[in-house]
Amino acid sequence: MNILLTGATGFVGKKLTSALLDKGHHVYAIVRNLKKAESLISSVSPSLQKNLVILEGDVIYKNVGLSEDTVHFLKENIDTVYHVAAFLSFDENVREQTFAINLEGTRNVLELAKEIKVRNFFHVSTAYTLGQQLHAFETLHPVDNQFINPYEESKCYAEHLVFEYKDQFNVNIFRPSIIIGDSKTGEAETTFALYGVIRGLELIKRRMERKKDLQNRTFKFLCNQEVTQNFVPVDYVIDVLTAALLHAKKNTIYHITNSNPPTNQLIFELIQEYLDLPNVVMVPTDYPGQLSPEEQAFNQPMSVFYDYWTKDLQFSDANTRELLAEVGLEPLVMDRDILMRIIGKREQVLSRGAS
Ligand SMILES: NC(=O)c1ccc[n+]([C@@H]2O[C@H](COP(=O)([O-])OP(=O)(O)OC[C@H]3O[C@@H](n4cnc5c(N)ncnc54)[C@H](OP(=O)(O)O)[C@@H]3O)[C@@H](O)[C@H]2O)c1
Repeated sequence: MNILLTGATGFVGKKLTSALLDKGHHVYAIVRNLKKAESLISSVSPSLQKNLVILEGDVIYKNVGLSEDTVHFLKENIDTVYHVAAFLSFDENVREQTFAINLEGTRNVLELAKEIKVRNFFHVSTAYTLGQQLHAFETLHPVDNQFINPYEESKCYAEHLVFEYKDQFNVNIFRPSIIIGDSKTGEAETTFALYGVIRGLELIKRRMERKKDLQNRTFKFLCNQEVTQNFVPVDYVIDVLTAALLHAKKNTIYHITNSNPPTNQLIFELIQEYLDLPNVVMVPTDYPGQLSPEEQAFNQPMSVFYDYWTKDLQFSDANTRELLAEVGLEPLVMDRDILMRIIGKREQVLSRGAS
């Protein structure tokens, strides 16, 4: 099949490109940064590179910035669009940019898909479009919900927009939760979420090693121990996205989530073990006591995650289970060993970078 893909230079898009090429498909990747395109091409096995076509474009423009000739060439030539590109910032200060890319960008990709007459539009969203609900089903969530940040809100609006096109082509929405490294290799090319926290803890460790007066002190990390984090390994996400090509049901939403997510306590224990951080202790995010200036400097940037660290969420994934069964795959079981491999891999990368 011929597939048009946005976001191919990102964490998920890069893996998806390789997986689609491995399965014998041709991939047309819309890329805004040609340097990153080179890295994408070199990540693909040489024998498959001829099946990867780079199209320079940007989702914020009409026709995604493609020339008329390119649009003409794509017309009736593309089977499925995977719209993966997004701006993953939780920052209220960049709300406009977040909506420009995640909502208006999605509109531009949908319009292009309509113009070139595709069969399927696969939209990668997020499990966190659920607003303040604690249990989410694989249905559209209301847009008048309260959202934690503009990222969630923009993705919720984009989901509704995608469904407005269901008379033009089949639409499917895929909602991964928090994507972490590969379950088999541990590798992850991202600085998002878990990786930002590990990076922060690693910087604290270095600071403690450098400053003698910090060495015998206990350092407080504000994070609620008993709450779970819905982590999913990136290869599980790719399995679901690729299974969808042949088996997705018309106009259906799929949660790519973890039914047995790890607690913050377990995640932290594993990070502590790998970074060898004995003096850091977890205290609740509403800790009433005083924090030292170092503790404040570390914990303040983490506050964007507090809403995610204070409530347990549940995601029903019956549609995804059914989809996976079609290709003989089981739903995710992420045990301690897999989590350790993913966190450990990150630590090795950090150590190599530091040496
Ligand atoms: N990572 C997670 O934990 C997570 C969880 C749930 C859902 N998701 C969703 O999964 C998808 C992929 O996320 P990711 O982790 O792979 O993100 P990522 O690594 O930040 O990649 C984002 C991709 O989007 C591209 N992009 C951004 N703005 C663009 C624009 N204006 N025009 C064209 N391309 C643009 C980026 O291009 P450049 O390389 O040029 O920047 C990059 O290829 C997103 O839709 C995200 O919302 C991610």
